[in-house]
Amino acid sequence: MTVATAMKVTPLTPAIGAEITGVDLSGTPTGSDIAAIHRALLDHLVIVIRDQKLTPPEQIAFTKHWGSLVRRIATDFLHPEYPDVLVLSNRVVDGKPAGATEAYAGFTWHADLTYAERPSLGSMLHALEVPEEGGDTAFANMYRAYETLPEAMRRKIDTLRALHIRDRRKNPRAQITKKEGFVHDIDKYFDIPAPDSVHPIVRTHPETGRKALFVNPRFAVAIENMPDEEAQPLLDELFEHQKRPEFTYRHKWRLGDLVFWDNRCTIHLACGGIKPPGIRTLHRTSIAGDVPF
Ligand code: SIN
Repeated sequence: MTVATAMKVTPLTPAIGAEITGVDLSGTPTGSDIAAIHRALLDHLVIVIRDQKLTPPEQIAFTKHWGSLVRRIATDFLHPEYPDVLVLSNRVVDGKPAGATEAYAGFTWHADLTYAERPSLGSMLHALEVPEEGGDTAFANMYRAYETLPEAMRRKIDTLRALHIRDRRKNPRAQITKKEGFVHDIDKYFDIPAPDSVHPIVRTHPETGRKALFVNPRFAVAIENMPDEEAQPLLDELFEHQKRPEFTYRHKWRLGDLVFWDNRCTIHLACGGIKPPGIRTLHRTSIAGDVPF
């Protein structure tokens, strides 16, 4: 489908993801380019905008078309000059990590900041260095996950709410099993105070009006007003269901990719496995969101 003079949007899988070519985000994208990108995001949930070469200020400017930026509460790997940009990298400079590795950034399926009262609307990763092998990022469509649940299950969860927390130490499903590159003392890292939040398990997307499953094993640990003997098996069932291959797209990074996903209706996972001496460096920005309903 051609949506602007040169911009082309091509679906990547039947369920989720589209590739966008023919647009340069480093200048000032036109209003119609931004509108077409916004439409593609709502339709495809994850968009892969190819062949970009963005400086941090250019990535920040592009991100701001969707709202204000949110920073990670752990400040270690924020860009030294542009703290709205988080650096993800397995590069080591003078014995020190140049960025957060995948051990930080998502070895458990999640959507961003769901432990916060206002989870992130969406996030962007821009590829500055890519490895030959490994380091993929997978995404799953949470509209599909909700819509394909049996009707009795949908009725059951429609009014339930889940507790989301940041602290991995309190979440048996989110222990760091691959610690390579995790340079912090885990206690210090997770002692940074962060609010816990309770969110509906089924969220209505504020722009499309569609219902999406809104739990993830990285942050959701319990169900409000439900004993754990009942809640934990229910959460396990939802977590197993939501990552079914037919809902997912696995992104293999190319240099210059700018991947933008909607956290309100997707979950994602750092797949790991970067093969040495491969280096992956990504710049990440994230957009503030609303209180889920
Ligand atoms: C993330 O979870 O936000 C980053 C994914 C990745 O490192 O591949």
